[in-house]
Amino acid sequence: MNSDSIDPALRTEGDINFSASRQEWQESSVDASTRRTLDEDARWFMHQSLSTPCLNAITGCEGIFLIDSQGRRIMDFHGNSVHQVGYSHPSVIQAIQSQLQSLSFCPRRYTNAPAIQLAERLATLAPGALNKVLLAPGGTSAIGIAMKIVRYVTGRHKTISMWDSFHGASLDAISIGGESLFRDGLEPLLPGCLHVPWPSTIDDAEEVERIFEEEGDIGAVIAEPMRCTTLERPPHEYWHRVRDLCDSHGALLVFDEIPLALGRTGTMFCCEQLDIVPDILVIGKGLGGAVMPIAATIVREDLDVLQNRALGHYTHEKSPVAAAAALATLDVIENEQLLEQSRRLGIVALEQMDQIKRNNPLVTDVRGAGLALAIEVQSQYAERILYSCLSNGLSFKISSGNVLTLTPPLTITEEQLRTALSIVATALDECALS
Ligand SMILES: Cc1ncc(COP(=O)(O)O)c(C=O)c1O
Repeated sequence: MNSDSIDPALRTEGDINFSASRQEWQESSVDASTRRTLDEDARWFMHQSLSTPCLNAITGCEGIFLIDSQGRRIMDFHGNSVHQVGYSHPSVIQAIQSQLQSLSFCPRRYTNAPAIQLAERLATLAPGALNKVLLAPGGTSAIGIAMKIVRYVTGRHKTISMWDSFHGASLDAISIGGESLFRDGLEPLLPGCLHVPWPSTIDDAEEVERIFEEEGDIGAVIAEPMRCTTLERPPHEYWHRVRDLCDSHGALLVFDEIPLALGRTGTMFCCEQLDIVPDILVIGKGLGGAVMPIAATIVREDLDVLQNRALGHYTHEKSPVAAAAALATLDVIENEQLLEQSRRLGIVALEQMDQIKRNNPLVTDVRGAGLALAIEVQSQYAERILYSCLSNGLSFKISSGNVLTLTPPLTITEEQLRTALSIVATALDECALS
């Protein structure tokens, strides 16, 4: 297998559908019956990047594993970041089943106990005065709600966000997003969506300050506190400075923690580690326990002044089944002490990753927070490493073409984690020797 020469423009978030490594892997690893399933998928689904045509087909998911149609068990360190509590957690499945038997849907005009309990629970967990909640059927919709609140409350439409970030796939979310794959060819996007480079030092706050001063009417800074794909984290002082700038210019700070909340980085919310509180906190993904689609926009209590406006008129707004899944997920995080587990295993993993870096010249950096782990490699080897790992039962995501993004379920055991990292080390060694 040779290293891939891939157009850098295609090296964005996630898999490249047509790389040589991928083709080789499919030819050698996918049987005729799976091939037929993949062909059927490609026949009926609209083709799009990062999706159809697909790599493989699965028939099961449990704990940290996917089970493919050939019965192979694959440790899933990708999981679209939904699987903090692992797949098919018995408590989550049980909560959904029992909710289905009592109340399966809640139309507008009515409310229901699980949705109220969830809103209360999220408001209690969230820091500071983040005490009001809107639920939505997905992260992108929850970001859209946040953007509307910013406009209504501040009377301003301009935002500052980061190049290279992702906040969802709709036109409003890609306007504040910064990845060309999701933006190119779709202009004109929303006006007033200003971008700064992804920050790495406190000095990068000067660019935010310049925009605040030159524009004068910025409604919000909208960003991930830590970039979930490459796991780059600006210094805490950067966010403190941005918080001050928002306050002094009458703007809101919106944190998108859709993939990172719920223990991924070792605390319930990533922003707790920064010691600042945003005005709006958006979470999603793992909230539905790797089963139900659900997200939440958690808002500063005094911003609850929009009773005559429609902020998130979503059909599945107060889904009792999704709320039951979310409540069970929060219970699992608490009862199984997954925040502590994420922090402890994060340290174990980083030690092993440091060793991998010392032993392998292809590794340029290792970093992480909790069980959000990244191994940065020379980009021409990234795909090859991925497919080698897949052959040995480990799946993960490649970000920006050169980062192996490893986000295992927080329920993983230390032994499983060590095994997974050994698979990566073996793949790296093979590449280095070839
Ligand atoms: C940081 C971030 N924001 C927003 C979203 C969008 O969430 P959803 O796919 O649930 O709409 C994602 C999804 O990957 C994300 O990673």
